[in-house]
Amino acid sequence: MIRHLPDSIINQIAAGEVVERPASAIKELIENAIDAQASQIDISVADGGRTLMAVDDNGTGINAGDLALSVERHATSKLNTDDIMAINHLGFRGEALPSIGSVSNMTIMSRDPADENGWMINVEYGEVKAIEPSSRQKGTRVVIEHLFANLPARLKFLKTDRTETAQILDITRRISMAHPNIGFTVTDNGRQSMVLPPKPDDRRARIRDALGAEFTDDALLLDAKRDQMTLTGFAGLPTFNKPTTGGIHIYVNGRAIRDKSLIGTARAAYADTIPRGRYPVAVLFIDLPSVDVDVNVHPAKAEVRFKDAGVIRSLVINAIRAAIDSDHRTSGQLGQTALGMASHQSGAARSPYWGGNSSSSRGVSQPSVDWQNPERYHTSLPIDDMAPQARLAEEQSHSQHALSGDDTASADTYLAADYPLGAAKAQLHKTYIVAETEDGMVIIDQHAAHERLVLERMKAQRQESGVVNSQALLIPEVIEPGAAAVMVLLEHAPMLAELGLIIEAFGDGAILVREMPAILGQTNIKQLIIDTAEELLEHDSSHSLEDRMEHVLATLSCYGSVRAGRPLNANEMNALLRDMEATPRSGQCNHGRPTFVTLSLADVEKLFGRR
Ligand SMILES: Nc1ncnc2c1ncn2[C@@H]1O[C@H](COP(=O)(O)OP(=O)(O)OP(=O)(O)O)[C@@H](O)[C@H]1O
Ligand SMILES: [Mg+2]
Repeated sequence: MIRHLPDSIINQIAAGEVVERPASAIKELIENAIDAQASQIDISVADGGRTLMAVDDNGTGINAGDLALSVERHATSKLNTDDIMAINHLGFRGEALPSIGSVSNMTIMSRDPADENGWMINVEYGEVKAIEPSSRQKGTRVVIEHLFANLPARLKFLKTDRTETAQILDITRRISMAHPNIGFTVTDNGRQSMVLPPKPDDRRARIRDALGAEFTDDALLLDAKRDQMTLTGFAGLPTFNKPTTGGIHIYVNGRAIRDKSLIGTARAAYADTIPRGRYPVAVLFIDLPSVDVDVNVHPAKAEVRFKDAGVIRSLVINAIRAAIDSDHRTSGQLGQTALGMASHQSGAARSPYWGGNSSSSRGVSQPSVDWQNPERYHTSLPIDDMAPQARLAEEQSHSQHALSGDDTASADTYLAADYPLGAAKAQLHKTYIVAETEDGMVIIDQHAAHERLVLERMKAQRQESGVVNSQALLIPEVIEPGAAAVMVLLEHAPMLAELGLIIEAFGDGAILVREMPAILGQTNIKQLIIDTAEELLEHDSSHSLEDRMEHVLATLSCYGSVRAGRPLNANEMNALLRDMEATPRSGQCNHGRPTFVTLSLADVEKLFGRR
């Protein structure tokens, strides 16, 4: 027998999609306040939003008649025509308040200035009470108590208070970046944990407040237009990358979204400039006529569908690429392309090193590169019949850190099949080790290689004793990584302790780092903490604890490694090579990049057109 479901059940079903966790309710309330033209939005939560959430605004308010309607399903003031594509507000379904009211004890207090006094309405787990007068003077206040108390199964899926609060801070920060004119505050258990003062018409200032000056100081300005579509915002330098996609913020017509395909587009724009497993930081505002985008494709309005997705994709990619290319600080990508050339066998005959036209673009697979200083790569060697071996030896004597004769002699014992990484011959640019092998040569990225070794060693310590060995800092370090980061870090303190990172709360919005994994030595603790928090925020709900630990370990080990730029002597270099040979998975760094490339003599001969 088929029957129509009662409204209470229908609302709960809708709530299942709209209200996944406290942060999603907060998102709906903030968006309602923005739609009501508020200039100040104050959020307070207690116990991760579980027992109490309140959003206060100074917007237009709701009159007595509309107040009763506002909690009814499919009742909205925001669709003025019957055209679902003509959406000019963040809301349009008339679904949020009835959904929230079906899974909580919700009270709305509001006043329309035209009314003599304010009014309030209460909805208790779907049961709508009569409206009553209230003392509210201006704007609207929505209070949500005991979310999901009628749905124990949902309640069970919530994470700890700290994690839920971190998510609330994160969504508030995200939405705020598109609305610099509006001030935001978040109070958590009575303590103000985030304050974003209004920054009238100054998006950059708001983004600086939300994401930190480290990003905005160096970010590249985006301003591109195609037909009726515009892309504005900021693209971070490729070198300012993160271990997760959490730094990619995308807005379509002012709406904060988490659209996988757009995130993919942003990543694609950085494709050959950021190593695999790392992600850019960018704040992208896409604006286009509302009829050209469908925002009604996702229950939490987190995704959109464009009429012409291809045009948007190329707009985003071209704008970001152009910004990166016009910036001189990104010359690091040169090396990436060069690596591609070394393993790239065809086309070698036309000597790619200085045949290139320097104006050509730095394409993904284009071997010709804009060498800024070709002389640097030019040796005085005559290209004659000199044997390849001899040529390498000659080249080596030109290198900055060629080894002394003694070292080379002893290292030659490594010139055997037992030692696939061969004998270290030189360090180039304080970054790469060049080794001679039985039948060719190997170039090793010392940082990438060492990073892998550090990771494997930390893993081994954990396996042996259950924890990564830690060492106390002489002076504990106080770090203020932002409210959301503090939450998620403290939340994971026991887990981090297992990984050798001992932290504790330190007043408002700060943490104290007491001990660090011993193997890391001297390192940039602040950046390490920020990266770790980022990692945890991204993976908090979607990954198992063990998975999260792996991710954090990889991040930590990155900080324990020999940096590119540190001179190494022959013994150190050979020790590193022997270590790599003895370590599993040492061919790839923790971010998936190769740690070394091999060139057989045959390859080298091809490069010089001798084959
Ligand atoms: N903070 C507020 N200030 C003024 N009016 C509000 C506020 N919150 C809600 N309203 C009114 O209540 C109505 C219902 O809100 P609700 O969030 O349920 O639906 P919506 O915003 O219209 O659509 P959506 O379900 O997509 O969010 C709104 O259309 C608006 O008229
Ligand atoms: Mg709404």
